[in-house]
Amino acid sequence: MLPDTIPSIILALSLFVARVSASVTIYTTTSSAASAAPQPTLCIGAVPCDGNVLQPMPNPTGPNLSQIVPVQLYPGGMNSMGIPVSGSFFGFSLELSVANRLFGNDGNKLVPIFLNLMATITNRAGKVLLRVGGNSQESAAVVPGGLPNDTAILKVQTGADKTFTPTLLVSPSLVYAMGNISSLLPIDWFIGLPFNDTTNPRLELAEIAQSVLGKNLIGMQLGNEPDLYAGNGIRPNTYQPADYTTDFGTVLHDYQSDPSVPNTNIFVAPSVCCGSSGNGWTPETVFNTGFLSQFSTNLAYISVEHYPTNNCNDSGILDPAALMASTFLNHGMVSQLSQQYWNTSQIAVTMGKPFIMFETNTASCGGFSGLSDSFASAMWSVDYALNMAYVNFSNALWHVGGESDYYNPFTPPATNQSHFRQWTIGPTFYSGLVVAEALGNSGQARVVDLFLNNNNNFSPGYAIYENGNPQRVVLINYLTDPSGASNYTAYISVGGNATNTPGGTPSSVLVKYLLSPSATEKFNITWAGQTFGGAFESDGRLTGTEQTYTYTCDQTNNVCAVPMPAPAVAIVFLSSSAQSESGPSATQTFSTSGLSAGHAANTATVAQAVLATSNGRGGGNWVGLGSTSPGSSSGAFSERLRSSSLVIPVVVVALTSAATIFRASSWYS
Ligand SMILES: *[C@@H]1O[C@H](CO)[C@@H](O)[C@H](O)[C@H]1NC(C)=O
Ligand SMILES: *[C@@H]1O[C@H](CO)[C@@H](O)[C@H](O)[C@H]1NC(C)=O
Ligand SMILES: *[C@@H]1O[C@H](CO)[C@@H](O)[C@H](O)[C@H]1NC(C)=O
Ligand SMILES: *[C@@H]1O[C@H](CO)[C@@H](O)[C@H](O)[C@H]1NC(C)=O
Ligand SMILES: *[C@@H]1O[C@H](CO)[C@@H](O)[C@H](O)[C@H]1NC(C)=O
Ligand SMILES: *[C@@H]1O[C@H](CO)[C@@H](O)[C@H](O)[C@H]1NC(C)=O
Ligand SMILES: *[C@@H]1O[C@H](CO)[C@@H](O)[C@H](O)[C@H]1NC(C)=O
Ligand SMILES: *[C@@H]1O[C@H](CO)[C@@H](O)[C@H](O)[C@H]1NC(C)=O
Ligand SMILES: *[C@@H]1O[C@H](CO)[C@@H](O)[C@H](O)[C@H]1NC(C)=O
Ligand SMILES: *[C@@H]1O[C@H](CO)[C@@H](O)[C@H](O)[C@H]1NC(C)=O
Ligand SMILES: *[C@@H]1O[C@H](CO)[C@@H](O)[C@H](O)[C@H]1NC(C)=O
Repeated sequence: MLPDTIPSIILALSLFVARVSASVTIYTTTSSAASAAPQPTLCIGAVPCDGNVLQPMPNPTGPNLSQIVPVQLYPGGMNSMGIPVSGSFFGFSLELSVANRLFGNDGNKLVPIFLNLMATITNRAGKVLLRVGGNSQESAAVVPGGLPNDTAILKVQTGADKTFTPTLLVSPSLVYAMGNISSLLPIDWFIGLPFNDTTNPRLELAEIAQSVLGKNLIGMQLGNEPDLYAGNGIRPNTYQPADYTTDFGTVLHDYQSDPSVPNTNIFVAPSVCCGSSGNGWTPETVFNTGFLSQFSTNLAYISVEHYPTNNCNDSGILDPAALMASTFLNHGMVSQLSQQYWNTSQIAVTMGKPFIMFETNTASCGGFSGLSDSFASAMWSVDYALNMAYVNFSNALWHVGGESDYYNPFTPPATNQSHFRQWTIGPTFYSGLVVAEALGNSGQARVVDLFLNNNNNFSPGYAIYENGNPQRVVLINYLTDPSGASNYTAYISVGGNATNTPGGTPSSVLVKYLLSPSATEKFNITWAGQTFGGAFESDGRLTGTEQTYTYTCDQTNNVCAVPMPAPAVAIVFLSSSAQSESGPSATQTFSTSGLSAGHAANTATVAQAVLATSNGRGGGNWVGLGSTSPGSSSGAFSERLRSSSLVIPVVVVALTSAATIFRASSWYS
């Protein structure tokens, strides 16, 4: 069946490329006051160069603004600390349809920039968890013999099915690339399996993944946001949690009957996303159909997916500046997001199963320009990740979609620029570094929300305990105030004071800051003085000298004063061992002049001249699909959107007179 489709693929593809070519506009970024970081002079219609910077929210006055914030820690532990989590808590979910563009088409052509980025995290966290999947997994079909031009993924509109969902052809080489990545770096994988058709379950992806990835395959997802299936046309309108449970059982049985899938106890489910906006399903409505008792041994993870908001426009166009203040620079809203899963996490803990946020980011349907790609999203992601750790999630994966998505932690350039451009590193990638260092790599990190400053929305803080000892404090100042009037000082005390325990405040603390001049800044972001730079500037390695501040404490008065600029995130390490545990050691780096499996894995440095001209994308055979990510539509998009989605591969939207932006819209129009 599959080889027959190739000719139509080629046709579809050439039409597709022709559309892209006809409408590319080259423009020079206009510099904006808030985004003064160096930008490439040529930014060809790319989302990271749209220059759209929002206004920071106005600062509060009166009781909401306190320059003195006491932080009292208790030796031995604190009430309602989360369960122990690992440094790899913060991982990434890579949309299947663009996965080859992120890490390469096969094991011999890995993308060094991707490897460098992952090394910055593994180096701190000890490991990274990556999921390959998303909406596009549903229609995936493996072509065992591979695809034309050695590409690993090809999206094709067969026109055969009435929902116009394109088939995503996948070459086994994609999985070999994953296997080679795990032999270079400590990376474990989740894979999303197709589930659009229970009568034709297409088991090949699981077969190949199990045989190639072995123990590095830690989970297989069956059912991606099933609460949206009815709306998306993947199932009938009457689709209910009980139907999902039945379907899961049917397909599970197919896997169990397949000797090439030896491990059927690593499933990830139920991955419902949307509560009231997703037909009212919650994890519990699925559990109440007997799901957990029926599949308890087959489930390695209990999963949910959730984005706090969306840019789908199904209930009108939302204003990103208003959302920034109401939803993102707002600890109370972060707490509410986690709170809806208290019951679910309790069930998972009781069952002894890890509870995973399998896909999240700022906003589904691609995120918002100026919000999802701003420093606000970085601060929010730290707050949200630590809050999830506090309410007993065990991992959370930030989604990466196509190049037209604003929320991406990292974005490669358009295919035909890959030989001279580097990648754009989004603000949320920095959050991954911060969370990795905050949690350390002991696997014993227990997070507690300190409800700082009388639970003020603008100045959240967390303590991280290991084996009963407070090791680190994470502080956030959501306000933007160049005047300095919104800076605060955290007065941290361990024990002593009014706790009826002996004072244990250390003689000094080490502090690293995540800094940017404004919550709305896009590129001038530093973590401990280091940065990935501006649009299409990064080879995946941090540049600059690492900067750690040491503040001497007042042990007589049992207090350490730590200044907090506005805005900022800080990790306060309460001992040098708390810092060295997750402090980056010598980071493994990968030459961007080409990487073959087993070769050149440890190239320590690469001359900039080489970088600038190298094939930094791991091979010249990338099929140029422009921006095709259904990841940009992942999450809570509505029935209206899906049902109105015709096949319009690329829509060109003029944002300003100077710029043309490609929007992925193959899933919606
Ligand atoms: C394969 O590459 C050749 C040469 O670059 C190109 O003409 C052809 O269209 C490509 N085929 C596909 C399916 O992309
Ligand atoms: C990329 O492709 C587009 C469309 O074919 C073309 O207009 C543009 O000049 C190309 N850019 C480079 C750097 O080759
Ligand atoms: C503990 O007491 C000292 C001395 O009075 C004070 O400076 C510090 O702010 C107190 N710590 C907290 C967390 O309140
Ligand atoms: C690495 O990639 C090569 C080429 O795709 C493949 O033959 C080999 O099996 C891969 N190795 C692993 C460990 O996946
Ligand atoms: C499921 O996806 C496959 C591969 O894309 C496609 O051929 C098939 O028609 C789809 N089935 C249904 C019921 O949507
Ligand atoms: C928690 O979930 C269980 C299982 O679905 C359900 O029986 C119980 O009512 C829920 N509790 C709350 C407080 O929602
Ligand atoms: C929603 O509307 C905004 C503003 O017009 C637009 O940028 C965005 O692409 C739209 N989203 C979708 C999914 O169409
Ligand atoms: C998380 O688990 C710990 C340990 O079981 C428990 O004390 C705490 O209350 C749980 N938190 C939530 C929000 O359920
Ligand atoms: C501001 O302070 C008031 C009064 O203390 C409080 O009710 C409100 O929740 C605070 N707002 C924020 C955003 O923290
Ligand atoms: C606020 O913090 C910034 C950054 O550390 C610093 O430059 C400035 O002097 C501080 N202002 C005040 C009033 O503390
Ligand atoms: C970046 O922001 C810092 C403050 O965080 C500021 O001192 C510096 O001048 C900014 N750099 C550029 C290039 O705008």
